[in-house]
Amino acid sequence: MTASTPKLRSRAWFDNPANIDMTALYLERYLNFGLSLDELRSGKPIIGIAQTGSDLSPCNRHHLVLAERVREGVREAGGIVLEFPVHPIQETGKRPTAGLDRNLAYLGLVETLYGYPLDGVVLTIGCDKTTPACLMAAATVNLPSIALSVGPMLNGWHKGERTGSGTIVWKARQLLAAGEIDDAEFIRLVASSAPSTGYCNTMGTATTMNSLCEALGMSLPGSAAIPAPYRDRQEVAYLTGKRIVEMVAEDLKPSDILTRDAFHNAIKVNSAIGGSTNAPIHLAAIARHIGVDLPLKDWETEGHKVPLLVNLQPAGEYLGEDYYRAGGVPAVVNQLIGQGLIAEDAMTVNGKTMGNNCRGIAIEDEAVIRPYDRPLVAEAGFIVLSGNLFDAAVMKTSVISPEFRARYLSNPDDPDAFEGPAVVFDGPEDYHHRIDDPATGITPQTLLFMRGAGPVGYPGAAEVVNMRPPAYLITEGVNALPCIGDGRQSGTSGSPSILNASPEAAAMGGLALLQTGDRVRIDLNKGTADVLLPPEELERRRAELVAAGGYAYPASQTPWQEIQRAVVGQMNTGAILEGAEKYQ
Ligand code: FES
Ligand code: MG
Repeated sequence: MTASTPKLRSRAWFDNPANIDMTALYLERYLNFGLSLDELRSGKPIIGIAQTGSDLSPCNRHHLVLAERVREGVREAGGIVLEFPVHPIQETGKRPTAGLDRNLAYLGLVETLYGYPLDGVVLTIGCDKTTPACLMAAATVNLPSIALSVGPMLNGWHKGERTGSGTIVWKARQLLAAGEIDDAEFIRLVASSAPSTGYCNTMGTATTMNSLCEALGMSLPGSAAIPAPYRDRQEVAYLTGKRIVEMVAEDLKPSDILTRDAFHNAIKVNSAIGGSTNAPIHLAAIARHIGVDLPLKDWETEGHKVPLLVNLQPAGEYLGEDYYRAGGVPAVVNQLIGQGLIAEDAMTVNGKTMGNNCRGIAIEDEAVIRPYDRPLVAEAGFIVLSGNLFDAAVMKTSVISPEFRARYLSNPDDPDAFEGPAVVFDGPEDYHHRIDDPATGITPQTLLFMRGAGPVGYPGAAEVVNMRPPAYLITEGVNALPCIGDGRQSGTSGSPSILNASPEAAAMGGLALLQTGDRVRIDLNKGTADVLLPPEELERRRAELVAAGGYAYPASQTPWQEIQRAVVGQMNTGAILEGAEKYQ
């Protein structure tokens, strides 16, 4: 500790002569598992490890092992560790959806960071929502914070081919629907994608958010992509522990790092890596909690023209191990630096700037990370759409397949637009019941709509907008139909869906007024999505729906569902607990 070291906030608990009663009480209980009085009163910083790993959270479970190395790093640098649990979030295991838990974990972590004697914190991130939940809380409390990724699983393999998390499910679903595999083979195929500890090995929401955390400057450079079981992962856990102690001494806080420049850097990196459509929701949430203005439109203006460089499934071929071997985030950032696309002055947790950390980092395998002048897709960012169906929705145009383009975007007079009759589903259960029923009336011209799947309608917003065509169309070779909805889509899905539509039907957005059979026009060039009905007809339907009590959605099943529904915002502004952003 140097003379300029800020007064440690933990001293208010452990070394407060003005309140000796409480000091004694705080001390006696933190002594009782083996810490000594000397240690607690030595003036050493108290470092929290926000532990997101548990048996319920297998994606992050390896953090239980890594925490030992973090402790060694903290100790060596002169700090004391207090490790504590974070509310579990497991993306695929939580019902009705893990989306419900991001704000709950955020709330819990804010209370923990604020209310206990901590001077700094190591955020253990990994599975999809654990990363934004931790960063949102760190933003609110603004305590020196550093994130440690758990790292992706090793590559999955089946019959000599890479099988990637989630992505293999969409493929296996089609094989099963077409009768080419049975149930047992379906499970074997899916399980082959998960050969080790760690998070999803595709460029799904987990790899995306861990990469963006590094691009934001909140984790050590080069650390995001290291696979969970690699020895380098242990080493970076140790270095992260050491570094957080220095950060406390330097008083380097999230507000010094999470600037508007940092978010714009992350948006560009998201395009270059082919990142998840969940990223705009989570970055908006982190930005609001740190007080940075980040309108959804920034994703298009900052990110749309950036090319896809990382050849990972679902957009490409490779998986997590390959991404690390090819250079990970720093190699990608360096390609963008070469084009002047990165704000190089953005500060990062190691006390150096993004430019210092990444400039000159070479690509080690150009099959996996392409140089800027040989991209996989030219304009890989999202476009933001609006119209009479919603105010804002995002679409990842880089995953539009040649088949999809030929079917929907090949009119020479109107190359960026398509039109068709809507088939509307109210929530995922309705879709599962009716998708294969010929009476639903789905043809190759149909646009599939999913509503009642937003933050209020399906509390937390379900990842259900990417819908497969009915089995009878798949057997005829129609593998994808346009999908539009007020829910989310798994980052591991390669569908070119129009997602995160805000406001949702449950908040009486335009989707609530849509009826099966209505014609809808999507214009990707103009960025519009409209049902082709006169305003009077829409007003008539709105009045009728309001008179009937509004758009109906299922009742809450838990207290938290009810609480969150009452205060959650829409996805275009981060789906945060409205009002929470004023606590900074
Ligand atoms: Fe946890 Fe993908 S399900 S990382
Ligand atoms: Mg997901």
